[in-house]
Amino acid sequence: MEESSRLLSAMAEVNEDAVEATIRPQSLNEYVGQETLKDNLRIYIKAALQRNESLDHVLLYGPPGLGKTTLAFILANEMHSKIRVTSGPSISKPGDLASVLSVLEPGDVLFIDEIHRLPKVVEEVLYPAMEDFELDIMIGGENGGGRSVRLDLPPFTLVGATTRAGDLSAPLRDRFGIISKLEYYDHAQLSSIIRRTAGVLGSQIDEDAVGEIAKRSRGTPRIANRLLRRIRDFAQVLNDGLISKQVSQDALERLHVDPIGLDEVDIRYLRGIIERFHGGPVGLEALANSISEETTTLEDVYEPYLIQIGFVNRTSRGRTVTEKAYEHLKIPHNTALF
Ligand SMILES: Nc1ncnc2c1ncn2[C@@H]1O[C@H](COP(=O)(O)OP(=O)(O)OP(=O)(O)O)[C@@H](O)[C@H]1O
Ligand SMILES: [Mg+2]
Repeated sequence: MEESSRLLSAMAEVNEDAVEATIRPQSLNEYVGQETLKDNLRIYIKAALQRNESLDHVLLYGPPGLGKTTLAFILANEMHSKIRVTSGPSISKPGDLASVLSVLEPGDVLFIDEIHRLPKVVEEVLYPAMEDFELDIMIGGENGGGRSVRLDLPPFTLVGATTRAGDLSAPLRDRFGIISKLEYYDHAQLSSIIRRTAGVLGSQIDEDAVGEIAKRSRGTPRIANRLLRRIRDFAQVLNDGLISKQVSQDALERLHVDPIGLDEVDIRYLRGIIERFHGGPVGLEALANSISEETTTLEDVYEPYLIQIGFVNRTSRGRTVTEKAYEHLKIPHNTALF
């Protein structure tokens, strides 16, 4: 029991502060955007509730900060279920997974964040658990002599989240009945998230400030909320609490967020390709070394958005920067080729 509570972190420990928890939407109706996904989920939830069954296993994937964890908690709320939270890296051996699974109660949601990081041996225990609600465990001698025992598990819903769907093994992927990709949010959706968060925080915000922050949020709710909270500090100290466009622009400049939301790493990434590799193509590793960043950070956090806005192409020969990026950085294309 103690082991399982170590592995199952309570929500408060999921690296969140109190404010974060209050601005997180709790229901599908409060969750902005992702309309197709929400419409489908509403049907699956209703059908499962009508049949008095647990919801099919759900895999959520997409870039960081788009609302995977939030949605996992909402799914549990909408199913009137308890949620238990763990993550791929914290489950290192089959026994860890067994102790997590053995405390599940009927209808529970088990949320495994960063599910692509589950070791293969653990995945294999997960297959029968997902498919037949059965758990195979070894009893007795650690060094052989043990025997395998099959235990029945209560029906539960596994919700897996990952920024790297491609790293998930095919057999694991195939065991999810519902597989959904989260998309970047458009201007109107980000605006409504910013308005909602300002409301929850009790902040007064001008409509053109909403637009300004939305424009610079990289299509990402987490960034929108983070920028809003920082700008709110500036507004409180410098503008009697009113979040105006001017205060927002000044604050964003101090935060080194450029007019379309690119930060210092984005700029170093783009300039790195242009200045050191003649605009590409360049392999990720070489680029990462030259700008002193981790390859995984670039690949998971930075590139998806730069590709989305058409600043970078990923080809078989490596990364290249597009004309649009040269224009944004005001670097003449031909002279850059010296
Ligand atoms: N659809 C949404 N509507 C309103 N707010 C949202 C939405 N999606 C996310 N948010 C806000 O953005 C924050 C980040 O979302 P969340 O933590 O769920 O992202 P994530 O996809 O799990 O990211 P990571 O991959 O880094 O774990 C949340 O705290 C929440 O307040
Ligand atoms: Mg998350």
